[in-house]
Amino acid sequence: EKGGFGSFMDKEIHDQPKAVADTLLGRLDERGRLQLDDLRIDEALLRSVDKIIVVACGTAAYAGHVAKYAIEHWCRIPVEVELAHEFRYRDPIVTPRTLVVAVSQSGETMDTLMAVRHAREQGAKVVAIVNTHGSTIPRESDAVLYTHAGPEIAVASTKAFLSQITAAYVLGLYLAQLRGNKFPDEIRQTLAELREMPAKIQIILDRAQKVRDVARSMADEKSVLFLGRHVGYPVAMEGALKLKELAYIHAEGFAAGELKHGPIALIDEGQAVIVVVPSPKGRDSLHSKVVSNIQEVRARGARTLVVAEDGDDDVVPFADEVFRIPASPTLLSPLLAVVPLQIFACELATAKGLDVDQPRNLAKSVTVE
Ligand code: M6R
Repeated sequence: EKGGFGSFMDKEIHDQPKAVADTLLGRLDERGRLQLDDLRIDEALLRSVDKIIVVACGTAAYAGHVAKYAIEHWCRIPVEVELAHEFRYRDPIVTPRTLVVAVSQSGETMDTLMAVRHAREQGAKVVAIVNTHGSTIPRESDAVLYTHAGPEIAVASTKAFLSQITAAYVLGLYLAQLRGNKFPDEIRQTLAELREMPAKIQIILDRAQKVRDVARSMADEKSVLFLGRHVGYPVAMEGALKLKELAYIHAEGFAAGELKHGPIALIDEGQAVIVVVPSPKGRDSLHSKVVSNIQEVRARGARTLVVAEDGDDDVVPFADEVFRIPASPTLLSPLLAVVPLQIFACELATAKGLDVDQPRNLAKSVTVE
């Protein structure tokens, strides 16, 4: 069942090109436009939406963070992301023009289900982005956009995360298309780029040995910090969560811009810092700012492991290790940048002799509040 891999998690990491491709499948017509016949929600209602709230937990919430950046850019609709267990208990502002998007692999997470019920009681419409057919959250939602990742067995989410992000892109681009986005060329171009992503993920998998070797050398690490900016921020948080869950190593994901507001005090001789670097395309300020962050932590003794695009030479002087990913548009880059971080956590935990499929104290789906 593990298809020759050492663990379900390793197999599921390798399933990711297919998980992304399958989530796109049948949703693009020959003219490159999105067809979401399976969504079954009133188009007039989608046109009238004035706010989106994504509710989810754990990894699914990080997919929600990525969704926020993408949907706000493409659709110009305000998007909030909220942990489902916080949303429900703080009297959130929800109206009939609010679209709540509930993201869940299992479709059974009680915190997320309760948020769905709460949103509907307030008159909001709920679209579920869910992987498991026939589960409770889609049954209790107004509409569902299934991710087609296939069954995810390992407790730590990998391929479901990539397909949640893909489904969120599909939803965002569909809304943009429906609402007459001002930049139809950008939408068409993005859809074409999205189709290229499975092959790019495969390239990262083919190059994984470097990540594995570095991970194996870090089995005694006590703490690892992850930095990212823009969509690299949720990627950093997801990388940290994977390391906590699988390797039981203290890990934290920070927004790189926040470093000087406190976390830089943590940097000491030998502290491992993993940095997700934005695309250098156009050499915009975001890229140079993150490169400066690498420089800053290195000057204070950090060991820097950097995820950077092919051809980005600016990082080389300040990086102890560089994990390369193919070039992609910034908003789509989480589908690539997170993959080395998943492999890193999986390999490091394996090197420590841990059960990566069944980490201690965790359940695949959390069906209690
Ligand atoms: O089934 P769900 O997507 O609703 O689960 C949400 C979280 O419990 C889940 O993503 C959790 O954080 C995983 N252990 C992450 O690897």
